[in-house]
Amino acid sequence: MVNLLLRHGIVAGMLVACCMAAGCGRIPKPGDGGGSNPAAHLKSKSVNEDTSDKPMLTPQSEPFGQTAAGEEVVQYSLSNPSGMKISVINLGAIITSVEVPDRKGKVANVTLSFPSFAMYLENAPYFGGACGRYANRIAAGKFSIDGNEYSLFLNNGPNSLHGGQEGFMKKLWKAEPFQNDQASGVKFSYTSPDGEEGYPGELKTVVTYTLTHDNELRMDYHATTDKPTVLNLTNHAYWNLAGAGNGFILDHELTLLCSKFLPVDEGGIPTGELASVEGTCMDFRKPEKIGARIDQPVNGAGGYDHCYVVDGAAGKLRPVAKVVEPKSGRVMEISTTEPGIQFYTGNFLAGTPKTADIPKHGALCLETQHFPDSPNRREFPTTRLNPGETYTQTTVHKFSVAK
Ligand code: BGC
Repeated sequence: MVNLLLRHGIVAGMLVACCMAAGCGRIPKPGDGGGSNPAAHLKSKSVNEDTSDKPMLTPQSEPFGQTAAGEEVVQYSLSNPSGMKISVINLGAIITSVEVPDRKGKVANVTLSFPSFAMYLENAPYFGGACGRYANRIAAGKFSIDGNEYSLFLNNGPNSLHGGQEGFMKKLWKAEPFQNDQASGVKFSYTSPDGEEGYPGELKTVVTYTLTHDNELRMDYHATTDKPTVLNLTNHAYWNLAGAGNGFILDHELTLLCSKFLPVDEGGIPTGELASVEGTCMDFRKPEKIGARIDQPVNGAGGYDHCYVVDGAAGKLRPVAKVVEPKSGRVMEISTTEPGIQFYTGNFLAGTPKTADIPKHGALCLETQHFPDSPNRREFPTTRLNPGETYTQTTVHKFSVAK
């Protein structure tokens, strides 16, 4: 209980005003013949059909809502010829749906979404968006750079979580959709002013989501600063491969190519130790049902809520996770350049309207990132960014079906 309170002690309408804002509608491509309905082909796609010679579909856009300040929120949809469709919005660079076929070709959305636009403005559980400037926790919301101390908003008991009061998920991002033969995507940009939420430096951030011909959702992050600062960017999608809202993730089989994890205190702050997973409930190096040992993790807030150390060299794109949902046969494989991955089993999804009535353990997160509280831990890979340097991170989610 203390654990729950500490982690979520302080965590915390808009009418959907559908607009026909400039830029809404079909995104034109030179030499492209006409509009197509990306949803039309999705329902009937056979998983065995050879689609390798078919072109990517043109990104579509539609009005999604309006912020309190009157800014238009637009949803962009990307579809490929093999039956995948992804939707994203310029509010928080949030992924609002990821539709993938199961082994019979039946398509379902496998990421949690809200039924109303107003709920995206609150987004208490951080559905689907870009976490920043610092994903995960910073102890006591404090850190120092070159002798200067910085203080952040405390939104998670005594700590700062996912960027603080608003973080990047409440910001309106500039959106630029694109398309080529093998992929289509949306490039989102946001400039965080110097001092925003207590973080130093003006941070220019770019997050690009790309859907490839091969059923990959690629996320590329870039950032630059004009003063030394710290950052840790990730995406906070919640997954249920049986279909969002369709029961629990306890039967999903997980493989994590991670030999070590970071033990945490009751507030979710790493103790500093990189502990071996060998012989513990944290070991997912071979596929295991998530529910098999879910009552065992120490300080896991009622499940798993821990950062793992990804095997192999950080900075290189390498495989880290595989999730298989046995009934539907849907498979999601994750590769990343990041040193860590936060495995979170939706322990605070308590089934309230705020969480779209999704129950505890109704979805899981696998957030590729740097280690929590790195700015206060010299021994962890650095999260410092200096002027003249470019921060990059790439994470790829590949979807397929098990035979
Ligand atoms: C954290 C959880 C938190 C969730 C939603 C995850 O990244 O690890 O502790 O409850 O985000 O805020």
